[in-house]
Amino acid sequence: MKPSFNTKYPSIYDLKAKAKKRMPKFAFEYLDGGCNEDVNLHRNTAELREVQLLPNYLRNYEGSNLKTELFGIEYDAPFGIAPVGLQGLMWPNSPEILAKAAFNHNIPFCLSTVTTSSIERISEITEGKAWFQLYHPAKTELRDDIIKRAEAAECPVLVVLCDVPTFGFRPRDIRNGLAMPPKMTLKNIIQVLGKPAWALNTLKYGQPNFETLKPYMPKGLDLKQLGKFMDETFSGRLNEERIKPIRDMWKGKLVLKGVASMEDTEAAIRLGFDGIIVSNHGGRQLDAGESTIKPLERIVEKYSDQITIMMDSGIRTGPDIARTMASGAKFTFMGRSFMYGVGALGKQGGDHTIGLLKTELQQILEQLCCKQVSDLPKHLIK
Ligand SMILES: Cc1cc2nc3c(=O)[nH]c(=O)nc-3n(C[C@H](O)[C@H](O)[C@H](O)COP(=O)(O)O)c2cc1C
Repeated sequence: MKPSFNTKYPSIYDLKAKAKKRMPKFAFEYLDGGCNEDVNLHRNTAELREVQLLPNYLRNYEGSNLKTELFGIEYDAPFGIAPVGLQGLMWPNSPEILAKAAFNHNIPFCLSTVTTSSIERISEITEGKAWFQLYHPAKTELRDDIIKRAEAAECPVLVVLCDVPTFGFRPRDIRNGLAMPPKMTLKNIIQVLGKPAWALNTLKYGQPNFETLKPYMPKGLDLKQLGKFMDETFSGRLNEERIKPIRDMWKGKLVLKGVASMEDTEAAIRLGFDGIIVSNHGGRQLDAGESTIKPLERIVEKYSDQITIMMDSGIRTGPDIARTMASGAKFTFMGRSFMYGVGALGKQGGDHTIGLLKTELQQILEQLCCKQVSDLPKHLIK
């Protein structure tokens, strides 16, 4: 096992600590926080870590391989970069940094509708390999136009988000008056002054904007008008009627993200989705909800032969990825881990974080005597 990362930061927690020092407080807290009292944020990782794996030391070892096939595409590792909104506010140019790193490592990068790079720019960087996550637009024309742009950009997978029927209640963001672009209150200016790398990079790359949504936004909106525009433009509350036209229109693979119940899994199968991501948005929406590993186990047991089941929320390490896959997920995603990487190391952050997770996961496979990630369920201690 050769480390393929900067050995000064051998864990996501090192990156998180460094990112906290380099990012303005309002940006770090937006990234790091869950909702309400952060109960489900912590539960995600804690309960995932109750999963234990069994090694086989005396077996013939023929090498281990992280390569994973998903929707007919071979990726170099069984994890991808989850869609994250407002990325350029947290670290300037971060969607492009992460998309490039994902492309170089041959793993999926999923672009959020509400992040700060456009579908077209990310498609160019990834040569049409990036996935796109759709926040459900209230107006049919807008929905159709965004879907057509994702198709023209050759996105292989469209991810439809279902777990934001209403804004998550996040006390830190309320306290910080979080806004896009950031409100330059005296408090925020003081925070920015203490973070020179963030400030200089923001000067270099300019104020972050919702690049994918720009063509639909009236020019010169003030903050209040921007909030109103967002509220009117999206209706996150999905139902079968709203999903059907998307399935009819989208010829590529279609994934439902934010699934936490058997009922929604059944609906996803009925509506013709190719996959689901069992997710609770990294504990940012329902503090009284379950950790994702719990519904994953139930959903896998009943539906794994009917739909491709993936998972995110709470995964921070190679062992966490192995635990998730041993529990039956076909693929995993992470949101915060990659953003901590970019916050800590800027341009090198994506490459470092992917290299670190690959190295950790490779070590686990070698330790277990597990040839490929699809064999991980054989090592699950039930
Ligand atoms: C700061 C932040 C912003 C997010 N924005 C979006 C988004 O715009 N669209 C989306 O589908 N999910 C969004 N998510 C959820 C992630 O896609 C993913 O489900 C979550 O981060 C997984 O949990 P983890 O951060 O513990 O890995 C966001 C998550 C974070 C942390």
